[in-house]
Amino acid sequence: MSGSNVRFIVEAGGRLSGRIRVPGDKSISHRSIMLGSLAEGVTHVSGFLEGEDALATLNAFRAMGVQIEGPDQGRVTIHGVGMHGLKAPTAPLDLGNSGTSMRLLAGLLAGQGFDVVMVGDSSLSKRPMRRVTAPLAEMGAQIETTDNGTPPLKIKGGQSLKGMFYKMPMASAQVKSCLLLAGLYAEGRTSVVEPAPTRDHSERMLQGFGYQVDVDGATASVEGGGKLTATDIEVPADISSAAFFMVGASIADGSDITLEHVGINPTRTGVIDILRLMGADITLSNEREVGGEPVADIRVRSAKLKGINIPEALVPLAIDEFPVLFVAAACAEGQTVLTGAEELRVKESDRIQVMADGLIALGVDATPTPDGIVINGSPLQGGRVNGHGDHRISMAFAMAALRAAGAIEIDDCANVATSFPGFESLAANAGLGIQRKG
Ligand code: S3P
Repeated sequence: MSGSNVRFIVEAGGRLSGRIRVPGDKSISHRSIMLGSLAEGVTHVSGFLEGEDALATLNAFRAMGVQIEGPDQGRVTIHGVGMHGLKAPTAPLDLGNSGTSMRLLAGLLAGQGFDVVMVGDSSLSKRPMRRVTAPLAEMGAQIETTDNGTPPLKIKGGQSLKGMFYKMPMASAQVKSCLLLAGLYAEGRTSVVEPAPTRDHSERMLQGFGYQVDVDGATASVEGGGKLTATDIEVPADISSAAFFMVGASIADGSDITLEHVGINPTRTGVIDILRLMGADITLSNEREVGGEPVADIRVRSAKLKGINIPEALVPLAIDEFPVLFVAAACAEGQTVLTGAEELRVKESDRIQVMADGLIALGVDATPTPDGIVINGSPLQGGRVNGHGDHRISMAFAMAALRAAGAIEIDDCANVATSFPGFESLAANAGLGIQRKG
């Protein structure tokens, strides 16, 4: 899966148009498998993301004895085994590139009766895990990491967990979700306080499965010892995948694209707010609620963007969209300044550094800072950049070609399949001159 052999070659210019539906939401897809597996009864999922990350979660539960049918065109049927029905896997669980799988599973597995080892690819093997293992240890879990606090994670089963009150040092939905999942198996109440709002799909979906979650301002709490009841889940299109087309259409003259059935949960819409502050022309229509999550069709027409100081409150609400927002900033008139985003340095790659390196290679005036970046809008040249095996870096640079003076070649793009299978053909149909090599 490291796939440094896959390269994108994207012609300069073009515009985006038409109506498209991007694949299902990655965060919601992961959670549908986890809660569906632990529920009593049969859960039907539609719109499931058939990307490598969500499939890593699905395969992990299969390896723990859960019978799962599909995915078949986004349809998955999960035969729930109940809160205590998982079985010990016979081999380490390989979660590939997926930080969400590993961190959420750490919480969920800390309270099981069996031992588990979780491993990942070279990128995941460098990502920080103490943010979950330290609070889990306070709850009574026994989990080993490497000396650097990175995977593999070795979880010792049969521990009795105690609920706790935990103030998270960083705004992370993965940490929050991990602790709430551990809290389902803990004695008493587990409360997690977040320093800023983060995606709340776990809280919403737990409630959808009939598990009470009390949300009081920045604190989410569960009582251990309850049960989940199977339900049907319709996964909306992923706003994080739609974001590439939102930026592409904004920067490419003459574009007019509609992204259908996109999840617009208010904890995820920072990208819309930031682009609108930059002058983007974005309209939402057909707003409705699907299985506890708001969705809409999003129409984006090209617009003249201007540089802004990105409000720090919007950072966690757009955390996955910064690579492509940096491309928007490069195409805007004037300066864009991002601060308060040090979390970007510990994603699938160091997204501040690798975006700065690539933008500079394309002739953009970009300066990385410890917690963000300063970008002065500049004419983009063509050139060769590296995707660093990070799906969102590869797709961000692909969109940059819409405004570049020459073709952009992007190395190490195979991991686009972790979140956006079929990106090249969907983007090509919408008007991007993209080809895949290798
Ligand atoms: C996710 C939370 C975010 C996000 C990731 C998915 C989730 O990570 O970057 O892509 O599904 O909970 P952090 O919690 O580390 O910010």
